Amino acid sequence: MLMKLPFFKKKNSETKEESGLDMTPKHVAIIMDGNGRWAKNRGLPRIAGHKEGMDVVSDVVKVAVSFHIEILTLYAFSTENWKRPDTEVDYLLRLPKEFLHIYLPELMENNVRIETIGDLEVLPEHTKEAVYYAKEKTKNNDGLLLNFALNYGSRFEIMEAIRQIVTDIDTAKMDLDSLDEKTFTKYLYTKGQPDPDLLIRTSGEQRLSNFLLWQAAYSEFWFTDVLWPDFSAEIFKEALHDYQQRKRRYGGV
Ligand code: FPP
Repeated sequence: MLMKLPFFKKKNSETKEESGLDMTPKHVAIIMDGNGRWAKNRGLPRIAGHKEGMDVVSDVVKVAVSFHIEILTLYAFSTENWKRPDTEVDYLLRLPKEFLHIYLPELMENNVRIETIGDLEVLPEHTKEAVYYAKEKTKNNDGLLLNFALNYGSRFEIMEAIRQIVTDIDTAKMDLDSLDEKTFTKYLYTKGQPDPDLLIRTSGEQRLSNFLLWQAAYSEFWFTDVLWPDFSAEIFKEALHDYQQRKRRYGGV
């Protein structure tokens, strides 16, 4: 039986009792969608929406910290986003640096550890430098794990895992008989991390868009029509509260 605690009414829930910690998702993943439409609605260039969306990330991180969420995974740039105009791609790939430039001190104060999932190798040097620096700087923090999905695509991740598994079998590092779901997850970017309990997508779209296909097998989904730049701490808390009402059965009864 799930306990429904009114933790969402508290402004800065800190204690286990106040936050309803037992019912708080360990891992929340967010598809931050709607930046372009937000900008268009205001007659602004699309990148203005991305810029506004960047600041929302900081608000969401603070809620995650305050609610003792262990992992927050944010879809910042997908393997399909390369199809956008060069200027937009260029801007999107500058955002991690800009975000970290502004918010790294705050993240340090909040004991946040930065990690990434995705293929960083092909990203511009300035993006990689900023991200590697932040990872190194925050590596001993043991609070929230803030996981940026950067040049991330779930199908690519799964294909790479298969490729590596085949190599490991070929070179006798692994025995085919020992391959099971648990072993498979060790070949994914999310190795060692619990699957997302709650997956949020903004902007009214209701699809996964190649995000965490394997990991989201039993995630609870929460959709809102709100465009990402208008997302807020309050709306995030609403999603967390809604999650508390869910009954997760994992195929059981
Ligand atoms: C999707 O909206 C959003 C993205 C592809 C980029 C997400 C990036 C941010 C929210 C900025 C924060 C990033 C960092 C690294 C801190 P869209 O452009 O597809 O919107 P649309 O569907 O309305 O066109």
